Amino acid sequence: MHCVRSISDSLMWIGGSDRRLSLFENLFPIPQGVSYNSYLILDEKTAVLDTVDSSISHQFMENLSHGLNGRPLDYLILNHMEPDHCATIQDLFYRFPNMVLVGNAKTFTILKQFHRDMDLTERTLVVKEGDTLTLGKHTLQFFMAPMVHWPEVMLSYEQTTGTLFSADAFGSFGALDGAIFDDELDLAKQWLAEGRRYYGNIVGKYGLQVQAALKKLSGLTIKTICPLHGIIWRSNLNYLLEKYSAWSSYTAEEKAVAIFYGSMYGNTQNAANYMAHRLGQLGVTNVAVYDVSKTDVSYMISEIFRCSHLVFASPTYNNGIYPAMDNLLHDMQALGLQNRTIGLIENGTWAPTCGKSMQAALASMKNMTQLEPMVAIRSSVSEENRETMDVLCQNMLESM
Ligand code: FEO
Repeated sequence: MHCVRSISDSLMWIGGSDRRLSLFENLFPIPQGVSYNSYLILDEKTAVLDTVDSSISHQFMENLSHGLNGRPLDYLILNHMEPDHCATIQDLFYRFPNMVLVGNAKTFTILKQFHRDMDLTERTLVVKEGDTLTLGKHTLQFFMAPMVHWPEVMLSYEQTTGTLFSADAFGSFGALDGAIFDDELDLAKQWLAEGRRYYGNIVGKYGLQVQAALKKLSGLTIKTICPLHGIIWRSNLNYLLEKYSAWSSYTAEEKAVAIFYGSMYGNTQNAANYMAHRLGQLGVTNVAVYDVSKTDVSYMISEIFRCSHLVFASPTYNNGIYPAMDNLLHDMQALGLQNRTIGLIENGTWAPTCGKSMQAALASMKNMTQLEPMVAIRSSVSEENRETMDVLCQNMLESM
């Protein structure tokens, strides 16, 4: 049975949700599932904007057939060539022999790499920055947004209705459970955490490119944003753009402290707990504590996008950083995280080195300000360590 939703008289959501997949990109936990959004414009010509992942291809085909209601499909717009949006390109290609694929030069380079046996002769329309495609009353204009996840990404702007088809930008993890518009959810409770985790881990590395795209779009009148994952935005665009502006400039959303600790036998955990409670005593109550061994790194990355202050507490392990902590720091580096205020706690029983190693890892990131003093624990927290942590907490408070 089809499950489609109208966005306007002539625009329809024809995507679907996957709640069976455990790991998005076989990497990121998605306990609330994920949606793959596809859109259909019905005008003198018909156009689909992006397809879906193979996991929901059957649902997508039912939705498309219902939406077209016997009409042929004239255009397939390819805003993004990652396979979670491209699994059904071939199905459409052979089902609609007159359908033209619309993309930029890079789109078709990548398409040919993934779909080697497709003969694209006279089946493509190659567009460049600012080009338009008229469907009747609707006109799509194309803007290149390279590396707003992949190099071929482009955004399609429908001029008559002010609708932006934004590819991965403005997307979110989470299945669509009936509500598909931003004004049908409590955004702070039902969108923000997964929207931030999606941004931080999927697009987070490309802050500069997101900033460039935001600048490019600033001259357009945008009334609706249709991303490839998650809800459609039509009422709270300023809220969304403010979040994106902060995340893409690596500006913390909140004056808050995230404490990340690794602990083999509880002693480094003890230091992390002491820090959290000492900060609370000082009135800093926006504090979150994470065990790096038990928390998937994608959630910690998301918290780093939220919090202004970070504490890393690690045992020395194999003459370096505890592996789970090392993984977090490596991911931060890979995603280009920057502009945070840091506190460090090292532990070591006979040859503590991880403090220096963590300093070196953080030095490879931009504008990470380490607060003094670093806490150097020898096996378990001493009275001297407690006093040092008191000073660090006080310095953290003063830096907020
Ligand atoms: Fe949802 Fe970059 O693909």
